[in-house]
Amino acid sequence: MAENATASTQELERAALDSLAAAKSESQLEEWRVAYLGRRGELSTRLRSVGSLPPEDRREAGASLNRLKISLTAAFDQAVSDTSKSERQTVPSDAFDITLPGRRGNLGGLHPSEMMMREILGVFNDMGFQTVEGPIVELEIYNFDMLNIPADHPARDLQDTLWVDRSSKDKILLRTQTSPMQIRTMEKQKPPVRIVSPGLCFRHEATDATHEWQFHQIEGLAVDEGITMSDLKGTLYEFARRIFGTQRKIRFRCDYFPFVEPGVDVSVDWNGRWVEIMGAGMVHPKVLEGVGYDSSKYTGFAFGMGPERIAMLKYDIEDIRHFFSNDLRFLSQF
Ligand code: PHE
Repeated sequence: MAENATASTQELERAALDSLAAAKSESQLEEWRVAYLGRRGELSTRLRSVGSLPPEDRREAGASLNRLKISLTAAFDQAVSDTSKSERQTVPSDAFDITLPGRRGNLGGLHPSEMMMREILGVFNDMGFQTVEGPIVELEIYNFDMLNIPADHPARDLQDTLWVDRSSKDKILLRTQTSPMQIRTMEKQKPPVRIVSPGLCFRHEATDATHEWQFHQIEGLAVDEGITMSDLKGTLYEFARRIFGTQRKIRFRCDYFPFVEPGVDVSVDWNGRWVEIMGAGMVHPKVLEGVGYDSSKYTGFAFGMGPERIAMLKYDIEDIRHFFSNDLRFLSQF
């Protein structure tokens, strides 16, 4: 009987020391303490049951359990001090001051092109133009033919096209302008039409401080009975006042685009220099007839502007290539 008690005390010691070695954190150590040394733990339970052993075994059993209690307590204390030492090594207590206020993570913001576009669209929305968006990958007929730019027209050379699929029946390209949205809109609805349409355009051309091969445009179109050139000018003057302030000078000059007649370019005064920010004009009757509008009844104006160009003027940005270079030193200024 006495031998049995001794044997099971040794087993208990081995089990206790093994699980103590496995306890790595303060909370695991505490669990271990409750299980073995706690008031309802393994050792206390066994010590309490010593009284029910035969009298001749009690002394021996009690003594060995008490020795075990002393040695497990010592092993536990050692383990506690080792753990807190190693925890202190991985996170030195002076590594940070937990009373300091937290640091804010880096939040992203809107891209300056996007900010500029929203501002411009807001101005036209206030004047009753509705925002619509269309495909960047476009059909040749929308980008050129229906805008009165047939295949042999020299205006196609001005817009060096990036082709997606030139061999299929409906030739597919990356749109070189947002003007195809004039056609798509008029095909879908009857006059009156008042829309603005923002989006990316692409041209296969060399880049410099004022030219990118990828850029945004905002197209505008108004078609109704009795729309005249003075509506075009009034609308674009109001746009310029809202974006650049009442003091900035703007200039209208004759220009040529196949889908308008007459056509104009609109420039803004930039430190004594005229900088072109958009093309515009009265919608060509051929374009109206092409979508089934009666050109003897309806007239309209259209414009197309570059928001990056406008942001450059407004914020004195010297190189258009900043917009798509993804440099945070530039982007974080907005
Ligand atoms: N789409 C023309 C361009 O990219 C601009 C324009 C739009 C001109 C509408 C007139 C009317 O150059």
